[in-house]
Amino acid sequence: MNTEEMAAFCKKKGFVYPNSEIYGGMAGFFDYGPLGAELKNNIKAQWWNAHVHQRADIVGIDGAIITSPKTWVASGHASSFTDAIIECAKNHKTRADHLIEDKLKMDTAGLPLKQIDVIIRNNKLKCDKCNSPFKESTGFNLMFKTTVGPEGTAESYLRPETAQLIFADFKNVIDTTRVKLPFGIAQTGKAFRNEISPRDFLFRCREFEQMEIEYFTHPNHANTCPYLHEVETYEFIVLSAEMQEKKLMPKKMTAKEALDKKIMRTQWHAYWLAYEHKWLTSLGISPENLRLRQHLDEEKSHYALDTWDIEYRFPMGWKELQGMANRTDFDLQQHIKHSGKDLSYYDEETKTKVVPHVVVEPSQGVERLFLALMFEAYEYDKERDNVVLKLHPKLAPYKAAVFPLVSNKPELVKKAKEVHTELAEEINCFYDEKGSIGRRYSRQDEIGTPACITIDFQSLDDGTVTIRERDTTHQARVKTDELHREISRIMKNDRSLFTKKKH
Ligand code: GLY
Repeated sequence: MNTEEMAAFCKKKGFVYPNSEIYGGMAGFFDYGPLGAELKNNIKAQWWNAHVHQRADIVGIDGAIITSPKTWVASGHASSFTDAIIECAKNHKTRADHLIEDKLKMDTAGLPLKQIDVIIRNNKLKCDKCNSPFKESTGFNLMFKTTVGPEGTAESYLRPETAQLIFADFKNVIDTTRVKLPFGIAQTGKAFRNEISPRDFLFRCREFEQMEIEYFTHPNHANTCPYLHEVETYEFIVLSAEMQEKKLMPKKMTAKEALDKKIMRTQWHAYWLAYEHKWLTSLGISPENLRLRQHLDEEKSHYALDTWDIEYRFPMGWKELQGMANRTDFDLQQHIKHSGKDLSYYDEETKTKVVPHVVVEPSQGVERLFLALMFEAYEYDKERDNVVLKLHPKLAPYKAAVFPLVSNKPELVKKAKEVHTELAEEINCFYDEKGSIGRRYSRQDEIGTPACITIDFQSLDDGTVTIRERDTTHQARVKTDELHREISRIMKNDRSLFTKKKH
């Protein structure tokens, strides 16, 4: 299935709608429907759980979207957060790197504007819309400007990354919590980029959500990760900058091998890449569809010493799902310089002040992960002649659906509604009595509901109900007072209850 087909499926089922469709739409903006809102919330909750609640070394914050414009001068975004834009004789604008990538299959990351113009001229590239030649390319800042207050004179920006709020609040966090280096500060929230050419559905949007961690280490311990032993034997597919330059194929290796062979430069990078890879696979992403690719020197952001992306095999090719930059002490030093405030950390062991280094910044967009998870989960089942959305039960919009076997028997409807009301106190649970039982199963399969609970005549006699499992259609009978326990097992992907009968 390609991206357009996925967009159509997401709209049809109420996951994602194009924004302001009734007014002709706004490119790069999307609205989440009832099922998409649930899935998105579940993704963010799982991330927060795995990165904040389950880790003693990470605390979370929730910063503002609009912040002092001085933040963006200090961070370098005001001057450097640009893409090359190219305009034709009839004023149609497009992103120069996308044009060259699409037409010539060439990567122009990091190339100066002059060189981009030479490529466009030499290859006689013309405007797709009107076939006119292009003028010279210019830099276009991706931040959205806004004004604050009634006079409209105070300008600021919608944040292009959540990260800077973490740096600007660094002092507040160390003064008000008991964090000790090494530690991380996490944040999820909206970010905005005025993309020149938003494309590939949710992959490149103008409004999106990020899930980011700035992980701070003592500058003298920027290569000593106390958790490395947890992931040393963990395997992943690696494509280093050197392998790309030598046109070598990606290679499967362990985290230890990547460090021993100096493919990865710091223990922290190897540890966090493995941690994030493991987390993504725990959500149901196949390891074959993930690879770790190091940025080439020319494609690194202005703040980065070394960057690795976790890429996903999207239908449009391998693309970044998560970025992991080594930002060093660049951001804290910039904010020290521009604010004149002391943002250092007092190290009790050495009794000295230090400016910590962000050796890794695991950063990912919710929308990209949403899209990757939908591609992983989507399956057309020939036998059922129906789509089965095999989302991990933790992520599924509805955890269960409850049906009376037939809707014209009041005693069955009453019992089914009682079961639904009780389950809905704990989980998001759907009630449906419309249509044949087979049709009701199909509707739930299509939206990824892992368990369908049916109340039949036997239920009235002995208090048992059937649970039908989405992926196999296998069924089991359980007592109603065991339902909570069985649903909790299914949430952990434990399907042992269903090894017996097939529907
Ligand atoms: N904070 C990294 C990014 O937004 O790409």
